[in-house]
Amino acid sequence: MSQERLRRIRDRVRPFPDFPEPGVLFRDISPLLKDPVAFRTLIDLLEDHVRASCPKIDLIVGLDSRGFLIGPPLAQRLGIGFVPVRKKGKLPGATESISYSLEYGKAELEIQSDAVEPGQKVVIVDDLLATGGTMCAACELLKRLKAEILECLVIIELKSLKGLEKLNSIPFYSLLQYD
Ligand code: PRP
Ligand code: ADE
Repeated sequence: MSQERLRRIRDRVRPFPDFPEPGVLFRDISPLLKDPVAFRTLIDLLEDHVRASCPKIDLIVGLDSRGFLIGPPLAQRLGIGFVPVRKKGKLPGATESISYSLEYGKAELEIQSDAVEPGQKVVIVDDLLATGGTMCAACELLKRLKAEILECLVIIELKSLKGLEKLNSIPFYSLLQYD
């Protein structure tokens, strides 16, 4: 993976101190989404990674809401389906739900009970791992549906918040790391 391509992506992530609350350094990916060359490069790198690391993947699972910006284009590139994990109250029909904490609050995530068949192999995608609360909650939902989680995949990992420790032995990959 070329350092030059990674640098192009890193250059399009903007830091905002004290958002959405004092003490949080918010990493904003809006400039990355707005730059078509950088955004295509991002999807290129994620596609290369998933093809190499998870060749047997059945589905991409994306997390509400920034995981929805990355998951569908990646799934299209891979020629596979996309499954949304949504914040509470948005999905019709039978759902599994779970409460969790993240860096700046609490929330509840849901997945449709028939979204994944038992044994299907999934990669869970989000923009960022901070405390790991969100990703860990999503893993629990997928485990309840008896999916096989091949990997948790993010653009940005905030290493100082130690989210990776919460994921225990689930394989994890981040493109960019910040202290
Ligand atoms: C953000 C981000 C991750 C999560 C990471 O989502 O997109 O999903 O926080 O934090 P954690 O590792 O501490 O759980 P947020 O809930 O702010 O929702 P959004 O994507 O709709 O902005
Ligand atoms: N989600 C949780 N923590 C975050 C941060 N520091 N920047 C952007 N998104 C986040």
